[in-house]
Amino acid sequence: MPSIDLTGKAAVVTGSGRGLGLAYAHALAAHGASVVVNDVDEAVAEAAVKSIAEAGGKAVAEVVPVGTAEAAERLVNRAVEEFGRLDVLVTNAGILRDKVLWKMTDEDFDAVITTHLKGTFTCARAAAVRMREQGEGGSLILVGSPAGQRGNFGQTNYAAAKAGIAAMARTWSMELGRAGITVNAIVPVAATAMTETIPAFAPYIEAMRGGEPLPDFLRKGEGFGTPEDCAALVPFLASEAARGVTGQCVGIGGDKVALWSHPQEIRAAYADGGWTPAALADAWPTSVGAELQSVGIPAPKFPEA
Ligand SMILES: NC(=O)c1ccc[n+]([C@@H]2O[C@H](COP(=O)([O-])OP(=O)(O)OC[C@H]3O[C@@H](n4cnc5c(N)ncnc54)[C@H](O)[C@@H]3O)[C@@H](O)[C@H]2O)c1
Repeated sequence: MPSIDLTGKAAVVTGSGRGLGLAYAHALAAHGASVVVNDVDEAVAEAAVKSIAEAGGKAVAEVVPVGTAEAAERLVNRAVEEFGRLDVLVTNAGILRDKVLWKMTDEDFDAVITTHLKGTFTCARAAAVRMREQGEGGSLILVGSPAGQRGNFGQTNYAAAKAGIAAMARTWSMELGRAGITVNAIVPVAATAMTETIPAFAPYIEAMRGGEPLPDFLRKGEGFGTPEDCAALVPFLASEAARGVTGQCVGIGGDKVALWSHPQEIRAAYADGGWTPAALADAWPTSVGAELQSVGIPAPKFPEA
């Protein structure tokens, strides 16, 4: 097996005081990278730095809410001040403000868009400037979601932000290719503060916290496990072994890793001189309308009782 060695590399992981971000920070440090832990919550950020140091890794905390250019500058500058460089950025910080469209307020929309979409944009821009100056490539690891890939009931703001993040990964992989900077979006699924309230999973998460292993139908079937299960993807994407991997959306969770397709035209029909509404109505059922696509995250498949 190839060895994954990130010795000498420096990483910033946003929102890494708890949950998936904490697992990513630990995994990067365990493979030799020095890590800037970021969170809005100072207590968890400091605890993360302590636990990484106790595990033999190197980390510092920068407590600032991502979402502005100033916060992004602070994170990149901290990596450069502490470790002399920046090689890896993981834009993981996130919040939820779930409501159906007709109840969602401007504040709900803006808070989620600012943290996820603008936080990813501003941090990636600051990191790209620094990585281009260094001239040695780098890895931008963005964080998407099944909700962004497929849409999800009650998640207008979140689905929009995560779909935008996948689109930015594709765009930036083209723009940064010549600089040797890879850009991918990971699509994790794991038991965290964000998902433990999903009623269908709650009893299994509770049992897992009590020391029971998660059943196979969750780990394999749903690709659902612990944050640590998702974390392996981050050092891999940051490593030499993944230099050729860019512009991709990669799902990870439980025992499963998966490549997501990008949207593409799947069926076309043609009318000489262009379409009229009546011609569309006539041709629709037997042409493009014959392959209407499903939406939403498929409901979990529980084993027969
Ligand atoms: N848990 C899942 O199954 C799942 C699925 C798909 C995507 N994700 C994504 O993974 C990421 C992490 O999710 P999680 O489940 O670990 O969530 P979490 O709530 O457990 O952790 C998120 C962390 O981000 C921090 N944070 C929030 N806003 C911030 C900001 N503006 N600046 C800095 N830090 C901030 C929080 O304080 C928290 O520590 C999110 O982007 C989330 O959308 C999670």
